[in-house]
Amino acid sequence: MTDELELRLDSLAGVGPVTTRKLNDAGVHTIMDLIVRGPVEVAELTGMDIDSAGKLVEKAREGLVAGGLIAKDFVSASELYKKRQSIGKITTGTECLDTLFDGGVETQALTEVYGEFGCGKTQFCHTMAVQVQKSKEEGGLEGGVLYMDSENTFRPERIVSIAKANGMDPEKALDNIIVARAYNSSHQQLILEEASRMITENNIKLIVSDSAVGLFRSEYLGRGTLATRQQKLNRFVHLLVRLAETYNIASIMTNQVMSSPDQFFGDPTKPIGGNVVAHTSTYRIYFKKSGKKRVARMVDSPHHPEQEVIFGLGEEGVIDHETDTKKKKATKSIPKASETDTPAETPETASDVLDSELIDSE
Ligand SMILES: Nc1ncnc2c1ncn2[C@@H]1O[C@H](COP(=O)(O)OP(=O)(O)OP(=O)(O)O)[C@@H](O)[C@H]1O
Ligand SMILES: [Mg+2]
Repeated sequence: MTDELELRLDSLAGVGPVTTRKLNDAGVHTIMDLIVRGPVEVAELTGMDIDSAGKLVEKAREGLVAGGLIAKDFVSASELYKKRQSIGKITTGTECLDTLFDGGVETQALTEVYGEFGCGKTQFCHTMAVQVQKSKEEGGLEGGVLYMDSENTFRPERIVSIAKANGMDPEKALDNIIVARAYNSSHQQLILEEASRMITENNIKLIVSDSAVGLFRSEYLGRGTLATRQQKLNRFVHLLVRLAETYNIASIMTNQVMSSPDQFFGDPTKPIGGNVVAHTSTYRIYFKKSGKKRVARMVDSPHHPEQEVIFGLGEEGVIDHETDTKKKKATKSIPKASETDTPAETPETASDVLDSELIDSE
């Protein structure tokens, strides 16, 4: 997709060796990166005034449009529809979550998974890091992964188990994952700024940020720092989206939750990050624990219906819960009387699970 010569920064009028070096030092290596960063950041990095930076980014954009590398400003809906056909989908390896995602986790979008501790966010990220490597026929994108780990919860052993369970070579699966341990929020931002080159050189098809907001949350405490935190977080999540859109790759981020005490009805659990995160994620999925089961709810999506599914966690990562229910049904069908004697142990739908939990907790 990328032609090195065409994308060189110094092929743009007004970009000399000094500017090129400054941009390179900040992880901007190609014209594509200019678009990803946008005029405000380019101005900050190079010391240009914002108007000149704006013009430069605009020139870069025009060049890429002419080269057919990015979409035009005005396109017909049918052109857009055709373009959306190029969106890749990564299977989750489960029927239930694939149904929720309408086929799988999409490229050109930011998928946010939030939920309380132990609900399976990290397990989901590990699973997707393996699934994306599968062939296209098998539901993958035959690509590598950039896994940004800010909580020190990435475990290669889990990758080995998930790969084995999927009949894949565990060594290869590990080789295809680049792990970047982020120690603070600035470091996390820096890793992402350096990602462009890695994406093209290593055929990265999935970026994972687990967790995206944790470090920002722990470093910027108290009301006084809220504005700065939101500004920095905004920059981070926007970069995640722009990388996904520009390179046609999938971005997954996890988010923590807080309990909102002013909520009288419904679930008081809310994702953190406020509007910045809410408005930037393309898809928001809420994971919830329910005993051994997990419930996933599509909370916000431009085109998916709001629905819920039940899934499980296992050695293979995220799994279908069905095998369990099938087993239960099978055992139930033998002693017929017990069917009427005891109330259903497993609620019928995901909503039942959530509702029953809410009643329990009240
Ligand atoms: N090998 C395994 N087999 C089966 N289940 C596992 C395995 N490893 C972890 N789990 C399940 O995953 C759960 C932890 O999930 P995970 O680490 O994804 O939570 P999380 O949502 O990322 O939580 P946090 O907010 O603390 O990061 C454990 O409670 C356990 O039930
Ligand atoms: Mg986790």
